Amino acid sequence: MVRLFVVLTAAGSGTRLGCDMPKALVPVAHRPLLEWALKGLPSCDFVVVSAPPAQRDRFQSEVSGCGVPAAVVPGGSSRQGSVAAAIRALVNMVDPVQEDDLVLVHDAARPFTPPAVFDRVVAALQDGHRAVVPALPVTDTIKVVAARTHPDEPVEVVTATPNRATLRAIQTPQGFYLHELAALHERFAEQSLTESTAFSDDAALYEAANLPVVTVDGDRSAYKITTPADLALAEFQHSPHH
Ligand code: CTP
Ligand code: MG
Repeated sequence: MVRLFVVLTAAGSGTRLGCDMPKALVPVAHRPLLEWALKGLPSCDFVVVSAPPAQRDRFQSEVSGCGVPAAVVPGGSSRQGSVAAAIRALVNMVDPVQEDDLVLVHDAARPFTPPAVFDRVVAALQDGHRAVVPALPVTDTIKVVAARTHPDEPVEVVTATPNRATLRAIQTPQGFYLHELAALHERFAEQSLTESTAFSDDAALYEAANLPVVTVDGDRSAYKITTPADLALAEFQHSPHH
């Protein structure tokens, strides 16, 4: 029986959301995003939740009330650092890690991800792929720009426009073999991790190591709650009275 583990990243502060609490504690229809996210997970062997270090106890009591087998670990200063800490804790807890142990890394900020997305990611892993990400076509034209020469410079210089048909917006859950993801997080852990230099997803570690990554279809309802408008949409979709 293959084991399935989940790392749920919830250590972010939610700066862009602008509430006076960590994003995972912000309520939608009177329930914190963390609870929605935990309840939306597929059945699995164990969940490790990364939490803001100062709020660990608060997160632990939320998690304990959800009836999911889970532990809370302090996150880092970047998403990459938070996942690395959670993976390290997971590897210690499940010792010994088995060759076929699977792990899904999922953002608590995507609490309404449909079960079918989890199923597609796991199915692709079971089909032999080693790194699987949910993807959507992009609707905007995406341009590459050069760094501003001065922070006050009002314009940025465009350097490229990749063909939109080749671009995808990437969601979570992202699926991997636990021992491989753990090794990659150890390998890339020495890099100094600021929000701007860290890898923004886990598949990027595979790409940096020249390992293949594949996509499966994502879903619009797995959108990431990032801004007040996203929160308003979530409230509208999930409040019982609309
Ligand atoms: N995350 C994390 N540890 C960090 C930063 C982010 O675990 N140091 C998690 C967030 O909790 C979230 C996911 O990574 O589930 C995606 O991050 P994002 O949407 O950027 O959330 P925040 O970092 O909280 O938001 P902001 O960037 O607006 O502060
Ligand atoms: Mg962030």
